[in-house]
Amino acid sequence: MLQVKGLNAGYKELHILFDVNTAIDAGITAFVGPNGSGKSTLLKAIFGLITIYSGRIIYDGMDITRMKPYMKTRMGITYLPQINNVFSNLSVKENLIIAGYTLDKSELNERIQTVLDIFPELEESMGRKAGVMSGGEKQFLAISTALIRKSEVLMLDEPTAHLSSKLAESVSQKIVELRDKLKLRIALVEQNIRSALGISDRANLLLGGKIVFSGNPSELLEQINHQRP
Ligand SMILES: Nc1ncnc2c1ncn2[C@@H]1O[C@H](COP(=O)(O)OP(=O)(O)OP(=O)(O)O)[C@@H](O)[C@H]1O
Ligand SMILES: [Mg+2]
Repeated sequence: MLQVKGLNAGYKELHILFDVNTAIDAGITAFVGPNGSGKSTLLKAIFGLITIYSGRIIYDGMDITRMKPYMKTRMGITYLPQINNVFSNLSVKENLIIAGYTLDKSELNERIQTVLDIFPELEESMGRKAGVMSGGEKQFLAISTALIRKSEVLMLDEPTAHLSSKLAESVSQKIVELRDKLKLRIALVEQNIRSALGISDRANLLLGGKIVFSGNPSELLEQINHQRP
């Protein structure tokens, strides 16, 4: 389990997150909230990309608050930013090979097989440049690079943004598969509250850099529906 305790963080002296307490436990944990509420900032803080003023991040009992991002990656934590992080001018296969550059050949092939079991649609795209793929396919590839690295905690920042509703639905289904088949612990940041809460096991609502709700997704949905005019 990854726990966040009393986290205060921001960009240099610009304080954005206030006393955030949350956890990324087994299953899918959703973080929802309006633009600018601090969702991406929270993922960046957990991954070690911004300034932490106080509070702690604990991963499987170990204090990783001050650990560098590359160390967190090695420990099995992956952060996929809002902007796609695939190498556009490399092929799908090359992207996967680079993600697994520390693995020996047989291990790499094994992991690529795991990826193809979840994303069979990538098989026929192996030779294509990542840059020419659709938004949904790029998301699949970005997630695949995390699978190659054998991530245990996957932090996804708006994986369905800018996708058609059909593609967004298929990305959501893949996220469910990652939870059910590979037992990944997933932090899911989404602006599309309904679709995120529909597949989540726990929900957090952020407003102004604070978590104002933490609990059952259906309870949060009910509250939101209730407040609708
Ligand atoms: N690199 C940065 N430097 C300074 N301030 C930033 C930076 N990135 C974000 N912020 C500020 O931090 C606050 C939270 O932004 P954040 O990107 O975390 O919001 P968000 O909830 O992810 O919003 P969105 O749904 O639009 O992605 C905003 O006030 C934003 O202006
Ligand atoms: Mg964001």
